[in-house]
Amino acid sequence: MRVLITGGSGFVGQRLCERLVAEGHEPQVVSRSPKQARRHLPQECDVRESAQAFVDSPPEALVNLAGESIAAKRWNEAQKKELVESRLKVTQQLVTLCERLKENGQPLPKAMVSASAMGYYGDQGDKKVTEETPPNDEFVHRLCAQWEAAAKEVEEYGVRLAIVRIGLVLDAGGGTLQKMLPPFKLGLGGRFGDGTQFMPWIHRDDLVEAILFLLKDDSLSGPFNASAPNPVTNAEFAQTLAKTLHRPAIFPAPAFVLKIALGEMARLLLTGADMRPKRLEEAGFTFQYPTLDKALDAILR
Ligand SMILES: NC(=O)c1ccc[n+]([C@@H]2O[C@H](COP(=O)([O-])OP(=O)(O)OC[C@H]3O[C@@H](n4cnc5c(N)ncnc54)[C@H](OP(=O)(O)O)[C@@H]3O)[C@@H](O)[C@H]2O)c1
Repeated sequence: MRVLITGGSGFVGQRLCERLVAEGHEPQVVSRSPKQARRHLPQECDVRESAQAFVDSPPEALVNLAGESIAAKRWNEAQKKELVESRLKVTQQLVTLCERLKENGQPLPKAMVSASAMGYYGDQGDKKVTEETPPNDEFVHRLCAQWEAAAKEVEEYGVRLAIVRIGLVLDAGGGTLQKMLPPFKLGLGGRFGDGTQFMPWIHRDDLVEAILFLLKDDSLSGPFNASAPNPVTNAEFAQTLAKTLHRPAIFPAPAFVLKIALGEMARLLLTGADMRPKRLEEAGFTFQYPTLDKALDAILR
């Protein structure tokens, strides 16, 4: 199967491309810098600069992962605009590709898995959060809601859409864990603020399997929480990480310091949601890494 992936060069996309190639599929990657992206991808990947460039070899499925990194820079108004617009622009490209294929009488993709994030729900305190939980209105919610609405337009072309509201993706060599590891390895890690905020997380391999699961099962559509069934609070996360590294976790980062250092972006560290993968579990998806100690053991072994 030809699977077109936006953001295929990223932390999640690279692993997804490796899995697709291993299963005998043909990944088609959209990247702003194809030359650079090719260096990080299996040679079987066809990398081009835009989704429309694949109109001559219509993909059978779409995976939408691209977007400006949420923690790349302090959130001033220009950066917030970039976070939203980078996602809307790439998602719109996929809708335009479907439009072009339809106009040309070419086959349309059967399914699309489009990324969203736990941020869809905003700050939820200690409430259990499923796909039905009403969101808290704040910047990250509005970002995800616009991203999801843009993706929904593919449904007009008969494309089945599954949205993954992704938790913190864990693995070696990238993502948040890579940023957290240096202080924890030095024994200088600790919780953020009072540590009671929830940090839904998922092992990168489980996320990739969940994306494949959603691509393959014709009966699944709508939003799916993509996080392990056992979320932890930030304090538990810090303790488990420190324990796995055989270090203490006794240096909390006070909330006011994070707010001064990061501005509004500190909400990413200081608020959260006890997100549960209700719909994935009901659909029969099995997590290879259901608990944080198992996931961190495998990653840091
Ligand atoms: N990793 C996590 O913990 C996590 C958690 C929740 C949600 N998510 C979401 O899941 C998606 C995949 O995550 P990831 O960790 O794989 O992301 P990533 O490593 O940051 O990769 C995303 C890709 O998007 C492209 N991109 C970056 N900035 C862009 C911009 N301004 N405009 C257009 N394209 C841009 C890049 O590809 P090129 O440079 O090749 O164009 C990049 O490789 C992201 O959209 C992210 O928001 C991730």
